Amino acid sequence: MASSIFPSAVLFLLTFSYIHVQSHEEGYIAAEISNKGLEFLKDLLIEKAESSLVPLELPRIEKSIKIPVIGSVQIVLSKITVERIHVTSSTMKTGDNGIVIDVSGATANLTMNWKYSYRTWLLPISVSDKGNATIQVEGMEVGLTLSLKTTEGSLKLSLLECGCYVNDISIKLNGGASWLYQGLLDAFEGKIGSAVEDAVPKKIKDAIVKLDALLQSLPKEVPVTNIAALNVTFVNDPELTESSLDLEIDGLFSAKHQSALSSHYNRLLQDSSSCKEADKMVKISLHEDVLKSASSVYFEARKMQWIVDKVPDQSLLNTAGWRFIIPKLYKMYPNHDMNLNLSVSSLPVIKVGKQQIKAKVPLDVVIDVLDVEEVIPVACISTVISTSLSAEISGNALTGSVKLNDLTVSLKWSKIGDLHMHLIQTVLSTTLRTLVLPYINLKLSRGFHIPDFHGYELQDAQILCTDSWIVICSNVASVNQLSLI
Ligand SMILES: *[C@@H]1O[C@H](CO)[C@@H](O)[C@H](O)[C@H]1NC(C)=O
Ligand SMILES: *[C@@H]1O[C@H](CO)[C@@H](O)[C@H](O)[C@H]1NC(C)=O
Ligand SMILES: *[C@@H]1O[C@H](CO)[C@@H](O)[C@H](O)[C@H]1NC(C)=O
Ligand SMILES: *[C@@H]1O[C@H](CO)[C@@H](O)[C@H](O)[C@H]1NC(C)=O
Repeated sequence: MASSIFPSAVLFLLTFSYIHVQSHEEGYIAAEISNKGLEFLKDLLIEKAESSLVPLELPRIEKSIKIPVIGSVQIVLSKITVERIHVTSSTMKTGDNGIVIDVSGATANLTMNWKYSYRTWLLPISVSDKGNATIQVEGMEVGLTLSLKTTEGSLKLSLLECGCYVNDISIKLNGGASWLYQGLLDAFEGKIGSAVEDAVPKKIKDAIVKLDALLQSLPKEVPVTNIAALNVTFVNDPELTESSLDLEIDGLFSAKHQSALSSHYNRLLQDSSSCKEADKMVKISLHEDVLKSASSVYFEARKMQWIVDKVPDQSLLNTAGWRFIIPKLYKMYPNHDMNLNLSVSSLPVIKVGKQQIKAKVPLDVVIDVLDVEEVIPVACISTVISTSLSAEISGNALTGSVKLNDLTVSLKWSKIGDLHMHLIQTVLSTTLRTLVLPYINLKLSRGFHIPDFHGYELQDAQILCTDSWIVICSNVASVNQLSLI
């Protein structure tokens, strides 16, 4: 459905930062739809228009015409209906004036009923007959200019101009007399042509109003997980240039139904990295603040806590396993099971750099001893884990891998005496490198499926990280018609 892909595929900006534009008036996610992408959108729109503009009924036409020999004949054409419109060639251009769509070669098939009656001096009664006809319209031209603006966070689509011109019409009668055929041709061709020329722009206008209503009704916030929602409010007017349509959305995560947690994010100049060489339909740029806002939502919701009670080497979760490293622990709680209570202690620092995303995660590790009926916290180790993540898109899945860059540990408090921190660090670091990260990497290598959107999905997507921005360049294809491109 073009009407649903349009606003979605349509995700940009015009940074006329006049005087003081507040920082949250800038988008953290920007989408640049290239000519190739616009061409794809146009084809979708045309395909949609071909089916949604028909059947289109035109007003009935009545006329009295003079036929040689017979005299004056009253002819009524009713149920004149455009049944099918087929577009053979079209172009779409963007620029200062808006979006200009030109359909230069369209054909249409119409059906109608005809009826005539006349009186003649030859017969005492009036003569009448009726039947139907098919009409072919060739070389129809349609031109429209659309404007796309942002009002109150939604896209507003309006029709600035629309015209239709019919080049050639041919009528084929079913039944009827041959004189009627000639009469119809002579007297009605023009009228039917102008009825089409009137009706098509009207119907297009209605369709644009509907499409606009749909754009307006799009939610300004989309739930991403059960606690986080992405702000998809459009900021700034779309920028239309000869080579692209650029859109910008707020793009920050917030806890569901709450306004963004903070506004101290600061977006720097948009990076100019380009997908042009790759010749992709759309370029979506995500600022690192999008990741920061997402992690902030999870942090504030206290979702960054995990209890670890199973590890590949289960002996590590028994005081006996730590006998030689923390003798006092074993002495106080011999052969007790333990678990680790991990919690992120302050907001992770996330930085998007060249080809990788760096994250510094401050993590408190509380060692719990499981006594008969109690969980006894015995020590807390503060750690800072520095990792770098690289992401890739393969097929329709987002995959990645994490590398441990650095680990620092310090003892926050302890009920089991002093711990040998350098020993603990070695053990933790080895555990992370040999057990935890390989496990996470295995999960990441299987990837996360990128959901399709109303039947369309990314194709041949590439992901690149540059200074502060994650850039995804992709084509878009229908899930069922992968050969479309
Ligand atoms: C519609 O019109 C075209 C020519 O304009 C013709 O080739 C085609 O057969 C017609 N289709 C139908 C279903 O009448
Ligand atoms: C048109 O008329 C023919 C007979 O003249 C008839 O078979 C046909 O069903 C009619 N079509 C419509 C759409 O009324
Ligand atoms: C979403 O973003 C817009 C524009 O930046 C902002 O005005 C609005 O308050 C944000 N909404 C929420 C729920 O944060
Ligand atoms: C884990 O530790 C945090 C503080 O470090 C504490 O708030 C939380 O209650 C603990 N969770 C469990 C299940 O013990």
